[in-house]
This record gives sequence, C-alpha cells and structure tokens, in this order.
Amino acid sequence: MKILALHGPNLDRLGEREPDIYGSARLADIVALLKERGEALGVDVESCQSNEEGELVSKIASVAGVFDGMIFNPAAYTHTSVALRDAVSASPVPCVEVHLSNVHAREEFRHKSLTAAVCIGQIMGFGVQSYILGLEAIVEHLRNQK
Ligand code: DQA
Repeated sequence: MKILALHGPNLDRLGEREPDIYGSARLADIVALLKERGEALGVDVESCQSNEEGELVSKIASVAGVFDGMIFNPAAYTHTSVALRDAVSASPVPCVEVHLSNVHAREEFRHKSLTAAVCIGQIMGFGVQSYILGLEAIVEHLRNQK
C-alpha cells in the first residue's frame, strides 16, 4: 500500500515558522516520522511539499494508479482554493485532511475549509501527531474497504 503525504505552502518553513503555533518540528522531521510509522504499519509513505497551488493540483491529478491514499495539509490554500478542492474531489484516491493547529481556535478566516468536504475526514490540533493520526486513519479506511 502506498500513501502520499502532501504538504502545502509555507510548511517547508516549519521549525522556524511561528513555533508557538506550529511547534518546533521541521518538515524533514515530520517526513521521517511518517516514513517510520508507515513502516510499522506496513505501508510506504512518500512526502511531497510545494508552495505552488498549480503544482499541488498537478500532483493530486497524478496520484491515481500510483498511490492508494493521501494525507494532505493544504495549509493556507485550505481556506481559499477551489482548484485544490476540485482536484481532490475529482481524484478516486481517498484523502484525509490534516492540520497542525486547531484552525477553529484561530482567526475566523481559518474556520472555513474548502477542501474538508471532499476528504473522507479531517484531523487537526494535535501538532505533528495530526499527521500520524491522519496516516493511521487513511490506512485503516483503506484496509476496511478490502
Ligand atoms: C495549517 C493551518 C492553516 O490555517 C495555515 O495557513 C497553515 C498551516 C496547520 O497545519 O495548522 O499554513 O494548515
């Protein structure tokens, strides 16, 4: 089983970026943790980060037939991108949306997610653990389908 972990804009700056909100882990730490948890679960996890909306759209369009599931932190695009919503919606590959922070406890413009409704579920507020929980959720979902 292959899972894509997709990371949106500014997540390449984790560690240095607002650590009071996002914590001290760097993206490389999250990528390594996902790989490690994936190995324990018997799945292959590949990570990809982009600051470009179009690049994320193209990546999502290319997952069918290559990956079985996705976990996706669309970051700021969560709140703005119809293009990413449409890309996830058009993909036959199920997706779990994850966020480090609890967006509902933050500014009002973060309360709306355009992508959540086309994902099978959403996990937020647990820092790096949101990604691990997201990975466990998508693997469980896929295994229950077989
Ligand atoms: C985020 C929350 C978003 O509102 C924000 O724009 C991010 C990170 C999170 O993981 O908490 O860049 O997706």
